[in-house]
Amino acid sequence: MIVLDNTPRQLAMISSGNKQQEIEKKIGEALGLEMAAQKAVEELGSKGLLDKGGMNVKLESMRKQANNHQTQLEELIQKLSGSEGLDSANIQEVANETERKISEIMKTYLGDQPDSSEAIEFLCLAEGGEVTHYEVLGAMTKLVKDRKFSTKVRAILKDERKHLQLCTRLAKQIAVL
Ligand SMILES: [Fe+2]
Repeated sequence: MIVLDNTPRQLAMISSGNKQQEIEKKIGEALGLEMAAQKAVEELGSKGLLDKGGMNVKLESMRKQANNHQTQLEELIQKLSGSEGLDSANIQEVANETERKISEIMKTYLGDQPDSSEAIEFLCLAEGGEVTHYEVLGAMTKLVKDRKFSTKVRAILKDERKHLQLCTRLAKQIAVL
């Protein structure tokens, strides 16, 4: 009887534990993508790859917004680690790993002699990744009691869609310059 009584409770705990880890992973990936996006704009800019067509001015405001998203996510993580018991150290670890992976992908994508088109097209790729991650994170917000989480993710997703539109527009513009 004791075993039967305990089983459903144990299963429920394991299942919510798994979901919690999935949420931590997804938030960590979103945070890592924001960090990587800023680093990518900085690196590509310093190589002069964003000079064409005055892209750098518009991309600098995108970079600042990514920095703002990073701050918002960090504040949210701190809040959720208190209210929902999320593991902030695990989230940060995933974020650092994601940032490192994106840097590797960028190196591979650009190759030895990158041009401005490849640079902006890489940013399209990175922003597309951000949009997808926030879409998925948005679907996962129903698993978290704190409703501010959902509001915040939706607001950032809206910005990310604009980032992708901006990068796509710039890629098209400089393709015909
Ligand atoms: Fe972005």
